[in-house]
Amino acid sequence: MEIGEKILVVEFGSQYSHLIVKRVRKLGVYAELIYPDKVGEYLDDSVKGVILSGGPMSVYDDSSPKISRDILEGLDIPVLGICYGHQLVSYLLGGVVERASKAEYGPSTLSIDHYHELLDGIPPVSRVWMSHGDIVKTPPRGFKVLGHTASDRNTILADDSRRIYTTQFHPEVAHTEYGVQLLRNFVYRICGCGGGYRPKTLVEKFLKEYEWVSNHGAVVAVSGGVDSTVTALILRELFGDNLHLVFLNTGFNRVGDREFVEDFFGALDMNIHVVDVEDKFVSELSGVSDPEEKRWRFSTLYFETLNTVVRRLDALYGGLKFLGQGTLYPDVVESGVASRYTDRIKSHHNVVGRRLSLLEPIEPLKDFYKDEVRELAREMGLPREVYMKHPFPGPGYLVRIVGPIDRWRLEIVKSADKIVVEELMESGWYWRVWQGFAALLGVKSVGVKGDRRSYEYMVGLRIVYSEDGMTANHVKMPYDVLDTIAGRILAEVGGVNRVLYDLSDKPPATIEYE
Ligand code: XMP
Repeated sequence: MEIGEKILVVEFGSQYSHLIVKRVRKLGVYAELIYPDKVGEYLDDSVKGVILSGGPMSVYDDSSPKISRDILEGLDIPVLGICYGHQLVSYLLGGVVERASKAEYGPSTLSIDHYHELLDGIPPVSRVWMSHGDIVKTPPRGFKVLGHTASDRNTILADDSRRIYTTQFHPEVAHTEYGVQLLRNFVYRICGCGGGYRPKTLVEKFLKEYEWVSNHGAVVAVSGGVDSTVTALILRELFGDNLHLVFLNTGFNRVGDREFVEDFFGALDMNIHVVDVEDKFVSELSGVSDPEEKRWRFSTLYFETLNTVVRRLDALYGGLKFLGQGTLYPDVVESGVASRYTDRIKSHHNVVGRRLSLLEPIEPLKDFYKDEVRELAREMGLPREVYMKHPFPGPGYLVRIVGPIDRWRLEIVKSADKIVVEELMESGWYWRVWQGFAALLGVKSVGVKGDRRSYEYMVGLRIVYSEDGMTANHVKMPYDVLDTIAGRILAEVGGVNRVLYDLSDKPPATIEYE
């Protein structure tokens, strides 16, 4: 199965680039994120349009990423420039870009000056989202102004003869009221796409490409999460009985996941091997407190242990060649493996595994976003408890204990987390949020229990909305749900005398505490 049509999204470093890709895919057309110097390599008959993303720099910075004027003029397909992409087009084609008198971050009102099919279905006045320092002062020759805002006369530009369209605002951001409509018009009306892309299409392509591996064997380290569960089910199509699922019971796994994998994969008659290594992990990680060291030591130990299990399984069954992993598109990017313009934030567990495993990686989900994996899981008939399960970090509760690890703190965080999940399920909030969990904050404070002074830990409650984990907002939870959770933790979990609700967003915080 081939991908017959696609949109290329050129990455200039915006936090919203992934969102553009996701929106276009959601509209039913496959989209891919590529770097500016790769545009030429990616152009083939299947490319129906190019979107130039936003970016944090100014087109006048020497080091800002660019495409060449020749590439832009040579593109025989429609182009949509967004924010930095809008300024870059003007800069390359002879317009004037300058620093705005005031940088603008937030909502603005768009007024449409001329009707155009790019704006089909969009009312004359609507809300848009701006995030920029520069503006286009004079559009290049041949461009018509289609819309403006109070602070920017040239907010939407169009050159129909060259089929280049640009917007200063971000259509991909949910705060732009008719942003999806604009992207839909671009993709279907201007680029002439036919639609019909579904995540399943890519899975079929993957299975076809990897048909040749089916004589070999593979291992998937399942965690109980939706990504590794879907990975295992896809790889079962390739490897059949030669697929071995391994669950390492490290002690840091999410409460209930061991039972889930045993029951779920057991019921499907798949080879599931549960390996108990809790004592080893907890004792080797005890006392470690630096966040990156925690991740690094956990991953090293994890893959050493997995390699030992792989050797044992290979001796028993033979022919093991691949390690299936549930690595997702943003995991790869955020770990700095594929991104040049975002700083490395943390060492992603799955990505580290690519270097440490004995086996060759095989990653059927590496082009997918989380909600696409959830869609696949739903289509595979998995229950809501699986496809809506909250994300859980590879190193598990290790990154939910701030400061040194020890067995007692681990027990505290697990018991508190279990209560959070139970109450979110009970109140129905579990299904509405991206993630909700408890973390042990690592500091102690004074309290009273009974008539005695206590000196015990604080637990942080973290409940966030997110699209893909790259940015997040804390949830304005109903007070009574928070109250029930806090009350239960204080009553049921030994060693805790305070519960705090975390009001930080990402950025500047991250979702996990590490
Ligand atoms: P942060 O803390 O970076 O987390 O804001 C973003 C999202 O990623 C999840 N996370 C991980 N998922 N392996 C995973 O599969 C990991 O090593 C890992 N670390 C963080 C985190 O739970 C949040 O949803």
